[in-house]
Amino acid sequence: MKEENLREEIGELKGEKGALLLAHNYQSPQVQEIADFLGDSLDLSRKARDSDAQLICFCGVRFMAESAKILSPGKTVLLPRKEALCEMAAMVNLPELRALKVKHPQAVVVSYVNTTAEVKAESDVCCTSANAVKVVQNLKEDEVIFLPDRNLASWVSRFTSKKIIPWDGYCYVHERFTSEDVKEARRLHPQSVVIVHPECRPEVVDLADRVESTGGMVRLAQEVQAEEFIIGTEEGLIERLRRENPGKRFYSVGPARMCRGMKYIRLEDVYLSLKEERFKVELPQTIIEGARKALDRMLEYG
Ligand code: 13P
Ligand code: SF4
Repeated sequence: MKEENLREEIGELKGEKGALLLAHNYQSPQVQEIADFLGDSLDLSRKARDSDAQLICFCGVRFMAESAKILSPGKTVLLPRKEALCEMAAMVNLPELRALKVKHPQAVVVSYVNTTAEVKAESDVCCTSANAVKVVQNLKEDEVIFLPDRNLASWVSRFTSKKIIPWDGYCYVHERFTSEDVKEARRLHPQSVVIVHPECRPEVVDLADRVESTGGMVRLAQEVQAEEFIIGTEEGLIERLRRENPGKRFYSVGPARMCRGMKYIRLEDVYLSLKEERFKVELPQTIIEGARKALDRMLEYG
């Protein structure tokens, strides 16, 4: 089917079924353009929870669709492609997490939302890149097991005296940005404001003007008067910034980087997902209940 026909069919199916189409900022421009709402992990989980729609088609990676299901277990949540996975979320395994909890019995477990539902259910509280600092600052405990991202853990540790025990995970997309890339981008575009994601390495974060979630980057690019920005995150977000701010220029820190998991979903997958109501996110009740506590605590703190 042609792209314009697919867009039309998707619009009709959405109307017929009263479905809500959510998309993360890293989705392809074609998917971003048909979404009812486009945002970062925190915005999207709130939208999924607060919407009256009983059918949610989630264009993102699995952990995001799972979070929507956990927060709204009565709703049907669809993930258009089974392969849409976050490689960082796959870096935590339950036996090692349980062993770490035994080793640090006083520690509270803070899980970045980029984790599986099973890991969330083993955690005390979740966080996203938008609220990680606030969540950790609000904890009464002095010791924190933080997983899976060692770079986000390092960013959070700059704002607290609590002892942070990081998991040794990382995002392969953000890990590739180097401090040399930032220096070179600044040399080429000296008037730019540099905004990077907290999943970047600490030495990259050190050189940035601002550190923001993808949603924070969208808001900042609109607010700040500058004309040029150097952005340290996945290319889908940079494409959004260019589309929404035609008078401003956006450059990537180093070569544009792509998240494989985010790019599986094409318009055709969204169409089939809505038409056949596939692929439904299903989770065991006990996992939903455990993970829900950690996500609710995050929404309360953050
Ligand atoms: P945001 O919540 O900032 O959109 O980040 C999600 C993510 O997966 C970053 O790699
Ligand atoms: Fe996961 Fe990295 Fe992709 Fe974000 S960019 S979804 S952290 S693999």
